[in-house]
Amino acid sequence: MTVSDPVVEEVVSTIGRSATEIRQGLIGRRGTVDEENPSGETQAEADVWADDLLADRLGEIDGVGEYASEERADVIDCGDDPAASDAYAVAVDPLDGSSNLKSNNAMGTIFGVYDDALPARGEALVAAGYVLYGPITTMMIATEETVAEYELSGGERTVVDDDVTLPDEPVVFGFGGRVPDWPDDFREYAREIEDELKLRYGGALIGDVNQVLTYGGTFGYPGLQSRPEGKLRLQFEGNPIGYVVERAGGRSSNGDRSLLSVQPDDLHDRTPVHVGNDELIDRLEAALE
Ligand code: AHG
Ligand code: MN
Ligand code: MN
Repeated sequence: MTVSDPVVEEVVSTIGRSATEIRQGLIGRRGTVDEENPSGETQAEADVWADDLLADRLGEIDGVGEYASEERADVIDCGDDPAASDAYAVAVDPLDGSSNLKSNNAMGTIFGVYDDALPARGEALVAAGYVLYGPITTMMIATEETVAEYELSGGERTVVDDDVTLPDEPVVFGFGGRVPDWPDDFREYAREIEDELKLRYGGALIGDVNQVLTYGGTFGYPGLQSRPEGKLRLQFEGNPIGYVVERAGGRSSNGDRSLLSVQPDDLHDRTPVHVGNDELIDRLEAALE
């Protein structure tokens, strides 16, 4: 199954082909480098390597005008201006959950294809998705048309579900941040959810969100007392994940409204992130009012 827009198809097939290589290349790159990314986090060797690889490959696609990632300060200009032409901007979290390299737990690669110059609102996304490096490598691709899940092997992308929809009955939840650092209103909401759903938290939002898409439920990384803007980045994490979950029939929120409607100030803006079944996100927003 291919995506109808040829540029988007080229982007997703390039990421799909690269994912098998990225997975293999993690071996020997689990250490840290003596650098911080623009969010002030220590970079793993694999973060820098995967970013360079994706920048090279995505940046040379005709129709991709900008490349940006969590691991580099500025947008790379690699073609026409996406705000003034048919070109797209691609934003990437090259390795999501890279702190899990140390303990060998799940990780991902997240991407968003924006029809606007970066930083942009999520409403400008024309496609978004992620690769999950689990026991097998899978890829979720959301477009205006559909949300589809694939298995990746040896450069091949094989569809396993051509119409991914969030199950109606929520089952799992995962909330990031330390409980004493949660604001009181979020803590009260979380207590209710703990009584109703089963905890699944793995430290890579891709792994956690993929469980929500599989079983129903919610993932959240709230604003914290020590950092009201939360941890996750709007362009590289919040928007693409919000797009996937909304296209699959759920909701996304920054605690107040859809992540996709948030106007960014800066490429590396952080935001609270909540995604999942409508009813749960409605309750979350009511709890934080
Ligand atoms: P990244 O490795 O791209 O910086 O992302 C890590 C993020 C996200 O994937 C995950 O949900 C969250 O950080 C985990 O944070 P904690 O370690 O605070 O739980
Ligand atoms: Mn991440
Ligand atoms: Mn990352």
